[in-house]
Amino acid sequence: MPRPITATIHHAALRHNLARLRRAAVDAKVWGVVKANAYGHGIERVFEALRGVDGFALLDLQEAERVRALGWRGPILLLEGVFDARDLETCSRLNLWHTVHCDEQVDMLAVHKTHQPHTVFLKMNSGMNRLGFSPQRYRAAWSRLEALPQVDEIGLMTHFSDADGPKGIAAQLSVFNEVTRDLPGERTLANSAAVLRFGNDAQVRGDWVRPGIAMYGSAPDYPDNDIAHWDVQPAMTLASHLIGVQQLKPGDTVGYGSNFTADRDMRIGVVACGYADGYPRHCNTGTPIIVGGTRTQIVGRVSMDMLAVDLTTVPDAEIGTEVTLWGRAANGAVLTIDEVARAAGTLGYELMCALAPRVPVNVQA
Ligand SMILES: Cc1ncc(COP(=O)(O)O)c(C=O)c1O
Repeated sequence: MPRPITATIHHAALRHNLARLRRAAVDAKVWGVVKANAYGHGIERVFEALRGVDGFALLDLQEAERVRALGWRGPILLLEGVFDARDLETCSRLNLWHTVHCDEQVDMLAVHKTHQPHTVFLKMNSGMNRLGFSPQRYRAAWSRLEALPQVDEIGLMTHFSDADGPKGIAAQLSVFNEVTRDLPGERTLANSAAVLRFGNDAQVRGDWVRPGIAMYGSAPDYPDNDIAHWDVQPAMTLASHLIGVQQLKPGDTVGYGSNFTADRDMRIGVVACGYADGYPRHCNTGTPIIVGGTRTQIVGRVSMDMLAVDLTTVPDAEIGTEVTLWGRAANGAVLTIDEVARAAGTLGYELMCALAPRVPVNVQA
């Protein structure tokens, strides 16, 4: 028998979430963001469920190759553009659209030999100060691209730093609108948080939206709002079994560092899941977990292959009982990845992406 841990990717949830985002984005086209191997879910595993998108957005040429190998003939956008002049040959061969965010990428295009002119998205740094041309230099970059025979369509792009938080998007939106006011081309601005929170504004939707995290069933603005609020569903369940049970007396401790001490008689269960499976080591006593369909909490430190859970509220639990680390339990109970991430001081994004290769993954229609 292999270890009992498994991850399950839920196609019905992915389809539901995509439909939900489409409703929020009304008439805009949707880039399904599948970078980082579809946020840890696996490009090949999510493809069928997400093929209703209008295009796939990602970072990596190898990931683009994989999407083409799956038979996708529609648009693919490289969100950071090319890293090297030779990458442009792959863009030509695979018909990839690519972001242009710096002069060096324009220089590479200017000497690129291609029969088929490229579609590019010119990225503005409207305030996030990560990638993109400053508002002052944006139009000059646009004019340079416009003059190149290697370039066909020029789309307009920016990215919000605070779509999920109190600062919001107004300042960046107004800079972007001001600079691009009379420029032709398709526009793309909104990530998941912007689609869900501000998708009623046509300027935010633009022509293409770029949701990632909400497609996978995490609330971009948790804990202000949760997935129930946004009507999205977990696309990944991480589940395992109890492989041990211990009876503690008052004063007994649990795990490395003895950092949990029983203050009464209590039963604890030992789960076949640890940080080498991608479960965050920063989770500590109090982190929610589902055992046999009932919510309880972990106790003590997470170790490499195991963690311990309080069985006080689950007296029937025994070796073999199902444990849900995040996602949906067999009885339908849901523990969101956002709750676990919060207990670890991080975000659902990081947990999804960190699912370890040693965890077997199933796909559920
Ligand atoms: C340029 C760009 N667009 C869209 C996204 C998708 O964002 P989210 O997963 O928050 O929806 C990302 C993700 O970080 C990104 O970097």
